[in-house]
Amino acid sequence: MNPRRPRGSHRSYDPLSHLVFLRSQGEYVWDEQGRKYLDLICGYSACNLGHAHPRLAAAVCEQIAELTWAHGGQSHLRSRLEETLGSLWDQNAPAGRNPHGHSKVWLTVSGARAIEIAWKLAYAKRPGSTIGFDLAYHGRSLASALLSDTERSDALGPHGPLENHATIPFPRHLHGLCAPILVHDASHDASGNPLEAHADKSPLCDECQRALEQASLTFERLKPRASILFVEPAIGARGYYFAPAAFMQQLVALARSYDLAIVSDEIQMGLRRTGPMFLSKGQAWEPDLLVLGKSLGGGILPIAAVVGPDDWIDGIGPGIESETFAAYPMACRVALETLEILQTPNLQSDIERNGEFFRNLLRTHLPEPLVTLGSGLACCVSFENLANSGSELAFQVVKKLADQGVLVHLTGPKRNRIAAIPSLLIQKSTLEMAARSILEAIDEC
Ligand SMILES: Cc1ncc(COP(=O)(O)O)c(C=O)c1O
Repeated sequence: MNPRRPRGSHRSYDPLSHLVFLRSQGEYVWDEQGRKYLDLICGYSACNLGHAHPRLAAAVCEQIAELTWAHGGQSHLRSRLEETLGSLWDQNAPAGRNPHGHSKVWLTVSGARAIEIAWKLAYAKRPGSTIGFDLAYHGRSLASALLSDTERSDALGPHGPLENHATIPFPRHLHGLCAPILVHDASHDASGNPLEAHADKSPLCDECQRALEQASLTFERLKPRASILFVEPAIGARGYYFAPAAFMQQLVALARSYDLAIVSDEIQMGLRRTGPMFLSKGQAWEPDLLVLGKSLGGGILPIAAVVGPDDWIDGIGPGIESETFAAYPMACRVALETLEILQTPNLQSDIERNGEFFRNLLRTHLPEPLVTLGSGLACCVSFENLANSGSELAFQVVKKLADQGVLVHLTGPKRNRIAAIPSLLIQKSTLEMAARSILEAIDEC
């Protein structure tokens, strides 16, 4: 390890931290020994289109020759990106939301900063304290870490201002999902008119019911002090846990009955990782503010966004927020190109079909009590039901797979879950090979 590197940035818990990469292209990366790996981590979903997608690479080169920097963040590219993202979000908006159909878009640099901006905006509209999931991860900046359920994130320690943040449980579903994660064709009636809300009537398991009861008790206990609910519709960085659409819909309805502002963090699970462009929409519920990041910049340049109705986004006035690199032309250009690729016809159904194909292969052959679950191409194998929680086995499997040229991500609060996060453009045959490698590695460990 480089002696000048801070101890705090070492990743001793990561079985892949010894690998140093020199090159990447499409679904593959190459290490300094020239070994080739299938990348099923993809920058924790930042490189949703794989590495250096040719259209994105060409756009970066063109943009460097045109305009890299714009005074005050003013550029046509920024305007185009605001328009594109805002109108994508407004498409299929349920009746009643933003009757003018003009959401606004606040552009920023990182996921953590976008969460902070969303917090400021939500607070301006509904001042009060925050509630979030116990498995949440919203970033490691001072403010976003306060909303995250990870000791390592909390630089201020137990005496920090955390006491103002309350948590509610996100159901673990250790033995599999009780109801569908997505609601299909929920947003339109037979004539193509948007439906106000599509209530998913799927019955929920006891764990989901208990989580809803717990949320209800928490909302009741904290009323009217608590005013903002942060949710990840599927848990990303803390372990790839998934909840049914019916659960999220009921939670959101409950939160609305307490007048909580709802912020949906889709930094990792939005932008088609789970299939739909926006996971909340794919589950037929509506947050007040949507937060995007990671793959918005195509895994090439950092850019993130908060999207919401104008009366929310305009809640803080000029001069309170600004960043040197917010909405700079290079990042806007890549984001525009990324969004265009993500709108390719049939991409969503390909992602959902390929994800199901991959999980079915695993499901058919995984030894008990291992479980696979996921949505779209956000996939997880859980070792959590094993004795001693399976942490050691999961660690060995990740190492063995790397030796065989496949990178997967060791995750979960106890590091006993493996996330497979492939390029959204991956071929079915490559996924088949990946599933076989995972099964073989589990067999051999
Ligand atoms: C759900 C979620 N929110 C927020 C963040 C923070 O984003 P960033 O690392 O860009 O600050 C992450 C990063 O992993 C994330 O997965």
